[in-house]
Amino acid sequence: MERKTAVIPPEKLAAQTEYCEKIAALWRREGRTPLAFVDTYGCQQNEADSERIRGMLRESGYAMGESEEGADVVVINTCAIREHAEQRVYGNVGALVHAKRRHPGQKIFVCGCMMGQPAAAERMKKSYRHVDGVFNPHQLWRFPELLYSVLTQKKRVFATESSDGAICEGIPVERQSSLKAWVSIMYGCNNFCSYCIVPYVRGRERSRDPEEIVREVEGLIAAGYKDITLLGQNVNSYGKDRDGLPDFADLLARLAELPGEFLLRFMTSHPKDAGKKLFDTMAKYPKIAKQLHLPFQSGNDRVLAAMNRRYDSAHYRELIAYARSVMPDLVLTSDVIVGFPGETEEEFEDTLRLIEEIRYDALFTFIFSPRKGTPAAAMDDPTPKKEKNDRFDRLVKLQDAISAERHRAYVGKTFRVLVDGRDGDLLTARTEGGRLVRFSGADGLIGSFQSVTVTDHTTWSLVGALAEQERDHE
Ligand code: SAH
Ligand code: SF4
Ligand code: F3S
Repeated sequence: MERKTAVIPPEKLAAQTEYCEKIAALWRREGRTPLAFVDTYGCQQNEADSERIRGMLRESGYAMGESEEGADVVVINTCAIREHAEQRVYGNVGALVHAKRRHPGQKIFVCGCMMGQPAAAERMKKSYRHVDGVFNPHQLWRFPELLYSVLTQKKRVFATESSDGAICEGIPVERQSSLKAWVSIMYGCNNFCSYCIVPYVRGRERSRDPEEIVREVEGLIAAGYKDITLLGQNVNSYGKDRDGLPDFADLLARLAELPGEFLLRFMTSHPKDAGKKLFDTMAKYPKIAKQLHLPFQSGNDRVLAAMNRRYDSAHYRELIAYARSVMPDLVLTSDVIVGFPGETEEEFEDTLRLIEEIRYDALFTFIFSPRKGTPAAAMDDPTPKKEKNDRFDRLVKLQDAISAERHRAYVGKTFRVLVDGRDGDLLTARTEGGRLVRFSGADGLIGSFQSVTVTDHTTWSLVGALAEQERDHE
């Protein structure tokens, strides 16, 4: 296979670093520290992008604020996955006009997946005149140059050139947490599920160099990070876009062999690519969390085919059975779409049956939202909205009962948890499977792994107590 993945040359990134320095110099001349606010909509990939935006802002001399009020620059990092997400963005960007009036020097940028759609970028340009700059996900690394231009030339900027995107290594990152970190291992998606906008706005799959990934993870471990999540729209495709790269399971194994006390997670896996090798690797390494997010979307084979998912429900069931056979305590979560065009009551019931049978720890449930330009948006969709809402409610009710049952099963068991903060009187922690546990303990435990025995549960979280051994050492 020819090498298709483009990498931004280091000298181009160095030019961006120079823009950061020029911006910092502008503010030094003003004699004050400017304030920035970055607001994120959407998935972990977008959160990870926002951490890079904050990194570039920090390097340009900005301090981070908590709201748009009084901020010198506001960046809205948008999501296009469902219409509701887009409506929120239009509403909130519209409302920024007031904050800007109160702070006239404020510069407003809108970026992210929505801006990967030419029509949405055009709407920002025409109807939201208080927005100073727009850039799509492929242009993110050029943010310092765009900001400098807006600050110095009093002109609006629109960096929306369509491209399949390239990989940019070395953008500064300002992480939100000192314990948990996202590491993007690849960008884009090639799957074109018929309902999904992501491949259109984030371009083709491109994998980072494994050496870069290892270096980043080693750096995180050395800095004390304990919970590291590898990110990609379909991590199981890692390495397939060019010759000579390891596959995802091998990359995971290599990272899990690094010294230090930490847990590795990953998302998202696609059932057409995840398989025995991945599950065996997860089972083999204690440093890989026994947690799997494996979206199934629908339990009906006609619907799965119409979604272009390229697996059937029997294959999905086999995968789960194998994963559970090698990891009996696996925590399993999934995504499901209700009301895909033409989904009948019987087809929906196949989805309920699959949920009842598999018994997920948690589900992310969505009502189908037509996305312009995707094949599903043009499909016949005769089911009334009321009926879709009704299906959605039935599904949520079923899952709530299963979640409560799964939580009940935790009571009396002891888990290794990572203590990540405090909520009122109690410490908060996550189990290896990502479940929230609250328990009483000293602040000094924050940032460490502890053993906690679960004593009670609610629908969403667990209550526990430090296991005897640790309490003695307090
Ligand atoms: N790459 C990941 C997730 C992408 S988006 C994956 O393939 O699993 C997260 C979830 O949003 C999807 O799994 C799907 O359940 C949901 N989703 C995506 N497009 C949607 C749409 N048009 N309407 C409703 N839900 C959608
Ligand atoms: Fe969208 Fe499918 Fe790609 Fe996930 S795998 S991002 S659902 S096209
Ligand atoms: Fe994520 Fe939304 Fe983009 S889910 S990839 S931010 S469209």
